[in-house]
Amino acid sequence: MSTQPGESRAATLIREVFESGRPLTYIRSTEEFRIAKVLREVAGRMPGGAPTSVWTWSLTEGMHRDGETAAEATLAPRSALDFIAAHREPGIFHLKDFHEAMRDSAEIRRRLRDLYESCLDQGKFVVITSPVHFIPEEVERSLLYLELRPPDVVELVDFLREESRRLDAAETNEAVLYPLARALQGLTLDEARYALRRALAANPRLGPESMPFLLEEKRLLIGKSGVIEFIADGTSIGEVGGLEVLKKWLTERHKLFQMRDSLSSEIVPKGLLMMGIPGCGKSLSVKAIASQFDLPLYRVDMIEIFSGRHGKPEGAFVEACKMMEDMAPAVLWFDEIEMGITSTDSGGEQGRIFAFFLTWMQEKTRGLFVAATANRIDLLPAEMIRKGRFDEVFFVDLPGEEERIEIFKIHLARRGEDPAKFNLPQLVGFTNGWTGAEIEQCVVSAITTARLADRDIVESDLVKIAASIVPLSRTMKEQINHIRDWAFERAVKASAPPRR
Ligand SMILES: Nc1ncnc2c1ncn2[C@@H]1O[C@H](COP(=O)(O)OP(=O)(O)OP(=O)(O)O)[C@@H](O)[C@H]1O
Ligand SMILES: [Mg+2]
Repeated sequence: MSTQPGESRAATLIREVFESGRPLTYIRSTEEFRIAKVLREVAGRMPGGAPTSVWTWSLTEGMHRDGETAAEATLAPRSALDFIAAHREPGIFHLKDFHEAMRDSAEIRRRLRDLYESCLDQGKFVVITSPVHFIPEEVERSLLYLELRPPDVVELVDFLREESRRLDAAETNEAVLYPLARALQGLTLDEARYALRRALAANPRLGPESMPFLLEEKRLLIGKSGVIEFIADGTSIGEVGGLEVLKKWLTERHKLFQMRDSLSSEIVPKGLLMMGIPGCGKSLSVKAIASQFDLPLYRVDMIEIFSGRHGKPEGAFVEACKMMEDMAPAVLWFDEIEMGITSTDSGGEQGRIFAFFLTWMQEKTRGLFVAATANRIDLLPAEMIRKGRFDEVFFVDLPGEEERIEIFKIHLARRGEDPAKFNLPQLVGFTNGWTGAEIEQCVVSAITTARLADRDIVESDLVKIAASIVPLSRTMKEQINHIRDWAFERAVKASAPPRR
């Protein structure tokens, strides 16, 4: 595809179909309004200078041009085709829901094939739109079948500009259109309109304050897919304690990611795989990556994919990956990616899913950064871990002494307690082998105890609880050693070595 300046992806696709000379196109879509808009855009971009007229036909309105009354006696499908055949000038003819007529009448099917001949090389293009894929066999070869991906940023910026004007929104600042359009990416235009109305109902000016409404609407709509979840979390990298090696790596990758369009493909960051001991901050780090990269975060639920509730797992997985390409730039999180593997593999489905995933990782759009997390990485196929698939494989271990202090600080501060009030190094001795989640739990329990007694938390609250907690790592010693041994040779430690 060679896009013209300012041209949307959908318009490029349709323009190129027209330029290749195909007179009859069938677009399956529920978005008639959007297609009408794209056709108008294409009409202005056809070679030869003057814009081509766009005619629209429907069973209720007949054949008409924008803002004009219908041409006489064009209500019947057959007469619409006759009108096009007799038309002496170039034109784009948008036939809405024409599949009904094609289904019901052999005469219409015949007439459509004739039309192919009479439009060929005349600058006349017929576009049938319908929410269903119905193409009778005899016209199959004459019609080009298309499906449109959701609108891209160009289309969405345009939509936002028009819509806010149409809805009399208070003056819109052009500079906010782009980030708002990005927030709507992945939605159909109808869905985007719905989201926009909600935002404008709360606040008549389209601006940064509209963002939460758009994102909330998107969260609900994406959630309907059942396998992808939009996560509006906003954890910052400062809320992750320790893991300095990982953080430094992310800072570097972020820089490269921002330059992705000017880099050769092998150095554009593709993503990372994080494995580790449960409760040590894998999920937390993924959320922080999205904030650090200033991108939306989507989580693919592997349990849902394999549940069978969304059709065959393979199909659901492929569909989810495809859907995500429309939402780039974004961070895509495959949580517990080994999930599918632990169950018994029926019919090689898992093998095919991972084979697809690996190829997709190589070919996916540059705007997607993948963060995969796993607890039992040893279950993953070896080729998944091999260099080149992910940019790096990180191992998130139990936090070291300094990291534990940092994690205590983060969780105390988050709950409004001043960390300087506590002698945290003293706690290090009580918290050997603790996970970050256990440290958080200790802080929460200590604060709860203090609140119940109606007083401020003091250091001994933390110490008492610390002494009473038996960390999981003690009871799960063997599993943890197993994970560590395995990771030792195959992964980079996310934490910096302790300072001496
Ligand atoms: N390094 C850390 N810094 C700050 N908080 C942490 C850290 N590690 C864990 N926590 C706290 O523990 C909670 C649980 O951690 P998280 O969900 O990230 O663990 P995980 O590694 O994804 O575990 P799982 O394998 O069970 O999914 C976090 O929400 C956070 O509050
Ligand atoms: Mg997790």
